[in-house]
Amino acid sequence: MKNTFYITTPIYYVNDVPHIGHAYTTVAADFVARYHRLAGEPVFFLTGTDEHGQKVARAAEEKGVAPQEWCDQMIPQWTEVWNRLLISYDDFIRTTEDRHVRPVQQLVQKLFDNGDIYLGHYEGPYCVACETFYQPSEVENGLCPIHERPVEMVKEENYFFKLSSYQDRLLKLYEENPDFVRPEMRLNEVLSFVKGGLEDLSISRTSFSWGIPIPWDPKHVMYVWIDALQNYITAVGHGSDEDRFNSLWPADFHFIGKDILRHHAVIWPAVLMAAGIDLPKTVFAHGYLTVGGKKMSKTNLTGISPHHLLDTFGPDGYRYHFLREGVFGQDGSFSWEAMVARFNADLANDLGNLVSRTLALVARSFDGLVPEPAEVTSEEETLRTVASKARDELDRGVRSLDFASALTAVMEFVGETNHYIDRAAPWNLAKDEASRPRLATVLYSALEAVRHLSILINPAMPNASEKIRTQLGLPSGIGALDDELRWGVLSAGTRTERGEGVFPRIEVE
Ligand code: MSP
Repeated sequence: MKNTFYITTPIYYVNDVPHIGHAYTTVAADFVARYHRLAGEPVFFLTGTDEHGQKVARAAEEKGVAPQEWCDQMIPQWTEVWNRLLISYDDFIRTTEDRHVRPVQQLVQKLFDNGDIYLGHYEGPYCVACETFYQPSEVENGLCPIHERPVEMVKEENYFFKLSSYQDRLLKLYEENPDFVRPEMRLNEVLSFVKGGLEDLSISRTSFSWGIPIPWDPKHVMYVWIDALQNYITAVGHGSDEDRFNSLWPADFHFIGKDILRHHAVIWPAVLMAAGIDLPKTVFAHGYLTVGGKKMSKTNLTGISPHHLLDTFGPDGYRYHFLREGVFGQDGSFSWEAMVARFNADLANDLGNLVSRTLALVARSFDGLVPEPAEVTSEEETLRTVASKARDELDRGVRSLDFASALTAVMEFVGETNHYIDRAAPWNLAKDEASRPRLATVLYSALEAVRHLSILINPAMPNASEKIRTQLGLPSGIGALDDELRWGVLSAGTRTERGEGVFPRIEVE
């Protein structure tokens, strides 16, 4: 029985190093995975690398190294970025691993034995940058519709998968499960593509050899997408550990960019249907990060390295920006200025300042010890209501993949807490001994709000969350949410620690 929330990113081609477009998908998936874990659900979060095919083979050739060696050299460059970005993947699959190759061959053999694969001739345009066959009508002036680079003409003997015979079953799938492809705009795109008629899919190549051999005819290697898509099932035990497979599959979400929608929403379900395997629940295709109005990519020479942004904004600032900016699903243009402005406004001025001023006030008036609150007023009642609303909105936002709203709600809570402190003016209360009980209540409540925030920001900003919790004198790790998000968990007498600022302001030269 499946009992685990299973989420995937695309597996990335290792022809080059990651840029912020790749990191966009991975950060989003990590945010969702972390939230579900925080909510106490078992989670399996998969990422990895796509290592076969012409694109990778050519990159290796240009550098004069064997493809496998090239892949091995590239892996640390990918994992280093994921580590710096605090990506909490549970597994990292590489398509050159034996645990992937063998089950892939078995599955393709099964499709062949069932009569879903036949030998034929392919002639048509192919884009190596996206490793995709196109219809001649999709190619304008000889250019790939996605990469705007020249396509190549392929003419060879290939094995074909009978994709066309799945057209009706696919249409029925989309009709019965409108959530199979999201957002709705992408579903409509898929519907019109499939209704337009499906051609059988070439699934093998003979003109180069960097791929998984077709088991019954090894002069053919598998078309890279037929191999790659199966990572989602081989990583969780398909073909090697059926009990494990049944406890994890089907995936709850495949997060992808809209460039690889057809592969995931058309080819993938058809292959699974042919193999008699359950289908994933939702393929969610987000938009592009754009530069100058175009998809940012290395191919277009517009790739920006995550390291570059991490050096300035740190992992929390980085993650926050891409989760908060724009609407997940739509295209969004990247700008350094917007990133600095949002960091300074939301993180340095609002959240960072809330934490540091609260701790400074506690240090000054109570020697850094959490005070015992006295009587509460409607002001504190309101703050509690805002805290619980933020929790609900975060939950709703993550589950509906509306990340901007999820984080807006959390930042509204930050703003409300700052207003609460401004209205209560603890610096005035501190001047008068008779106001001490009121001062204790106000600072206790501000600390409780900060403690709540340390939990609510955790999936988006895990390091900042941990830093704030250390400053509050809390032990590391967050327990069951229902217990942690009760008001009043912070014990009076706990020693707080004024550490360095969590989000130092970024000064622009
Ligand atoms: N290897 C295939 C995927 C196989 S999945 C079974 C592939 N790899 S890729 O390295 O080209 O990366 C693809 C993914 O990176 C995109 O689908 C998208 O998720 C992400 N992005 C790459 N460039 C992007 C932008 N400019 N903007 C947003 N996401 C982008 O395709």
